[in-house]
Amino acid sequence: MTKPKDNLLAVSGLRTWFELRKWGLFHVGRIRAVDGVSFDLKHGETVAIVGESGCGKSTLARTILRLFKPVGGTINFKGHDIAGFSGSRLKHYRSKVGYVQQDPYGALPSFMDVQRILEEPMKIHGIKGRVRRRRIIEDTLSELNLTPAGEFLPKFPHMLSGGQQQRVVIARARIMHPDLIVADEPVSMLDASVRINILQLLKSVQKEHGVGLIYVTHDLSTVRYFSDRTLVMYAGRIVEQAGVEEILRNPFHPYTRALINAIPDPDAENAKSLRDLPPGEPPSLADPPAGCRFHPRCRHAVEGLCNRELPEDFEPVSGHKVQCLMYGQDARDFSPGEKT
Ligand SMILES: Nc1ncnc2c1ncn2[C@@H]1O[C@H](COP(=O)(O)OP(=O)(O)OP(=O)(O)O)[C@@H](O)[C@H]1O
Ligand SMILES: [Mg+2]
Repeated sequence: MTKPKDNLLAVSGLRTWFELRKWGLFHVGRIRAVDGVSFDLKHGETVAIVGESGCGKSTLARTILRLFKPVGGTINFKGHDIAGFSGSRLKHYRSKVGYVQQDPYGALPSFMDVQRILEEPMKIHGIKGRVRRRRIIEDTLSELNLTPAGEFLPKFPHMLSGGQQQRVVIARARIMHPDLIVADEPVSMLDASVRINILQLLKSVQKEHGVGLIYVTHDLSTVRYFSDRTLVMYAGRIVEQAGVEEILRNPFHPYTRALINAIPDPDAENAKSLRDLPPGEPPSLADPPAGCRFHPRCRHAVEGLCNRELPEDFEPVSGHKVQCLMYGQDARDFSPGEKT
């Protein structure tokens, strides 16, 4: 059982909504991008967040980084709720978390060379002494195989390959020795040939320094190798979470099962059919369906139940949580064959 002090991060009931305004003025609705999310992250643990496009992964990641302010819930980081932080407390928190974005070129300021890109955060957060800063930069570059440092420091982002740019982004995320790194689709815009290499570098930085890592991806096939635990997100909610081997072997939620079935198998003999993917699309987060958000696509949905009740976490196996009414106290409403 995890004790609270084992947790680096404890997110509870988190909600990040975006207000929709007509002509920038009149309130016409809201997008519930993150809508009641709870999970923990232990020190040095890697958690993957997976789900289809638009389900709220980046919004969740950016809320944890406090680039967005949530409208509700708590983000407990090392014993402090940072959800409402502002001013100097927020600035201090930002020095403890690193961010690796999806698009390395867009993430790096084109007018700065690598030296300035890496020195800037240290200046902002008060690391004094040019020589000291230079030593930290060289150590970090060497950790990311950007050597000799002297060759890379005067280069501007456009002079680097995509893989090198992303290594600079990781170096910048790492430069303040954060306790947590949030990597949002860190390799999806890179050539296939360098993806594994970048993920392995990220993993080795995480392992070497015992940093907590949140790895956002829509590619379930990489989570086995790069995460300890996996959270499956659907329409602003985490519908299932468990250890990575457990969730891949024993998925409960119909949506998780569909995602796992859709993982491409390199062996054509074993290739799963895409017919198992539920028909339809994820709902609009401006107007999500009542009840379970997955029910319009779910072949197990029970009328009068799944379209009315919003499932909460149920823990069928210790450490494995699922939000589906097929389990827990509503299980009697489903026929026995439906759960398989
Ligand atoms: N700054 C914003 N203002 C208004 N709506 C936003 C903003 N950022 C995201 N959204 C909306 O929130 C919802 C979730 O978006 P988000 O980018 O978090 O999804 P995602 O799971 O990261 O998708 P993808 O896999 O395509 O990156 C979408 O409907 C999106 O249009
Ligand atoms: Mg995203």
